[in-house]
Amino acid sequence: MKVTVVGAGAVGASCAEYIAMKNFASEVVLLDIKEGYAEGKAMDLMQTASLMGFDTKITGSTNDYGKTANSDVAVITSGIPRKPGMTREELIGINAGIVKTVATNLLEHSPNATIIVVSNPMDTMTYLVHKATGLPKNKIIGMGGALDSARFKYRLAEALGAPISDVDGMVIGGHSDVGMVPLIGHATRNSVKVSEFLSEEKMEWVVEETKVGGATLTKLLGTSAWYAPGAAVSSMVQAIACDQRKMFPCSTMLDGEYGLSDICIGVPVILGRDGIEQIVEIELSDAEKAKMQESAEGVKKTNGLLQV
Ligand code: LAC
Repeated sequence: MKVTVVGAGAVGASCAEYIAMKNFASEVVLLDIKEGYAEGKAMDLMQTASLMGFDTKITGSTNDYGKTANSDVAVITSGIPRKPGMTREELIGINAGIVKTVATNLLEHSPNATIIVVSNPMDTMTYLVHKATGLPKNKIIGMGGALDSARFKYRLAEALGAPISDVDGMVIGGHSDVGMVPLIGHATRNSVKVSEFLSEEKMEWVVEETKVGGATLTKLLGTSAWYAPGAAVSSMVQAIACDQRKMFPCSTMLDGEYGLSDICIGVPVILGRDGIEQIVEIELSDAEKAKMQESAEGVKKTNGLLQV
């Protein structure tokens, strides 16, 4: 299994690091436009191999897509991250051009690759990759829900005073501060609904903290987060590489599912060898349906800013 990660910034390098540490891929190519940067990160990471116990070969490339040839999975993290006070949507002007070029270059050398889009505004960038490449819809996956759900579980565990391994929960909808739909009504502690343990007020707190999870970190770090995004991507790549058929909420092109069409937005999917192997339609309450609808309207508004 060969994986390419485009963008050797903090998120891209974390992706490469976690993929290598999980030791399921034979090769990870890290590519960046900044001269020597990806080569440097790749070399630094390779020098952790004997210490961390992995055999994945990590190679760096300065914009030479030839080195990415025949990748099975390609992750796009390129573009600029948000700064404190910015929304993900504000990045569209710069990132759309970059993401389109990257996707085209990748597919020229790896026509069979499954593409995972991380660049923001992620749902719109995933939609753009669809429109720009015409790849089958199972092959284009946006990373948002896996990360947002990890942040949801972090807050759930905090509110419950429970270990993270005790909690389960999922965030669907758009990957934006206002668009996320944390499914608090479905969240559980060891299969018991969290409403058995938490007050309405506490559940509301969990939902709100989850939605601004990325913004909270951007404020603390001065740029957007990288460990959890990198870990979320690596789990998705692993599910595909190892044909795990694992369920994650991912941004995917909908064609009537959840009453939505011609939009990429986060819903639960099964990830396996063929990328998105199934879109899982779960029963939503009327309130959840309304939130999902509102979220979709926000994503469509951002999609409207694209020139494709
Ligand atoms: C975040 C970025 C990856 O939420 O969108 O941290």
